[in-house]
Amino acid sequence: MGRWRWRVPRPLGPLLALVLMGIVNSCDGGLTSSFVRKVEKTIDMPLDSDVFRVPPGYNAPQQVHITQGDQDGTAMIISWVTEDEPGSSKVLYGTDEDKLDLSAEGKYTRYKFYNYTSGYIHHCEIKNLKHDTKYYYAVGIGHTVRKFWFTTPPEVGPDVPYTFGLIGDLGQSYDSNITLTHYESNPRGQAVLFVGDLSYADNYPFHDNVRWDTWGRFVERSAAYQPWIWTAGNHEIDYVPDIGETVPFKPYRHRYHVPYKSSGSIAPFWYSVKMGSAHVIVLASYSAYGKYSPQYKWLEAEFPKVDRSKTPWLIVLMHAPWYNSYNYHYMEGESMRVIYESWFVKYKVDVVFAGHVHAYERSYRVSNIAYNIVNGKCEPVPDESAPVYITIGDAGNLEGLATNMTEPQPSYSAFRESSFGHAIFDIKNRTHAYYTWHRNQDGNAVAADSMWFYNRYWKAAEEISDM
Ligand SMILES: [Fe+2]
Repeated sequence: MGRWRWRVPRPLGPLLALVLMGIVNSCDGGLTSSFVRKVEKTIDMPLDSDVFRVPPGYNAPQQVHITQGDQDGTAMIISWVTEDEPGSSKVLYGTDEDKLDLSAEGKYTRYKFYNYTSGYIHHCEIKNLKHDTKYYYAVGIGHTVRKFWFTTPPEVGPDVPYTFGLIGDLGQSYDSNITLTHYESNPRGQAVLFVGDLSYADNYPFHDNVRWDTWGRFVERSAAYQPWIWTAGNHEIDYVPDIGETVPFKPYRHRYHVPYKSSGSIAPFWYSVKMGSAHVIVLASYSAYGKYSPQYKWLEAEFPKVDRSKTPWLIVLMHAPWYNSYNYHYMEGESMRVIYESWFVKYKVDVVFAGHVHAYERSYRVSNIAYNIVNGKCEPVPDESAPVYITIGDAGNLEGLATNMTEPQPSYSAFRESSFGHAIFDIKNRTHAYYTWHRNQDGNAVAADSMWFYNRYWKAAEEISDM
């Protein structure tokens, strides 16, 4: 068959080109990346993988991880698991590697889940730490002792540089391992903002909690050395009445403690921490958030407490995204958006990070808050007071990539790509932060997407003072 060719009469060529350019430009959506990846099935690493290795020695502490223990970064919660017997819940720590002259006593817990019984899960909060200081710590006192270290965040202040890593929906596949290795090779991250869906143990028969243990051992190589700020996702719910498991979030609550009480929260699913020049609010997509709910009341009281003269950067984490143009989990965050979005605009949130969708997307600054039930104004519009919404649920769990997108790209979507990766949010001072997204196929120096963030609060103040 001959190839069909459309010949344009010569005088009409430039005109047609202009018309076509007009068509292309008339679509307000941003860029859908043309990056071509090798599509392979995402497979979990087998149980005998080296990344899941149980540390040697009797009752050796495993699954060691840390998170900030208070509002302003002078405390750290150290958590670990022992398998043979409870052993000690004590942490020895200090600034001299050879002389751990401070100690704190923690507690241990354990739980049963169907036919699984957990190890002894220890949590110990160490307090009164100096800011911006490297601490060494030891756990497993009395049996096999293991040592680690971390650096506390600098004292909270408006121009304090601080760099966050962003990881979501990690799981424990070969791709998860590539993502974590890629993040570790990126030397800038000082703490991880984790946007939910940790182990994906619930994808196994009877939510095989052995996969919670393997996941804990897998992430220890990062999570024992820098605080990971936890957000609960749907894979943390573990609600399975068929097998008698009717307490939601049971494994997650036992294993991952967060400092919710220090921000006046009544539950570990919504809370806040301050790190450097950032105020980070963690929200719960799978806890009640409607009007009068505890989360609603907490957030209503929390936003006015944010002092942008001390923490200029206002970051919100949640699991289900509000602005998502993939055909996966489409509009699952909509009801929360309807309830909370006007606050985000009023209080000028700088950026919202979410997961859940296994791909990457960044929005323009948009809001959709003009609608009332009679005016019909129900489309996102550009809004300089609105946050940028970033979906970063692309760390590579066994469920694979979300590849199917709504077409054409909606006007609120600035950049989207269906690849695994992580991101870095690098705060320079009160006005500027540099954000980069790194797909796994590139070296860590390569940013597949990037953006300079101009702080919503201080940008406005500068603009006013310039007038
Ligand atoms: Fe999810």
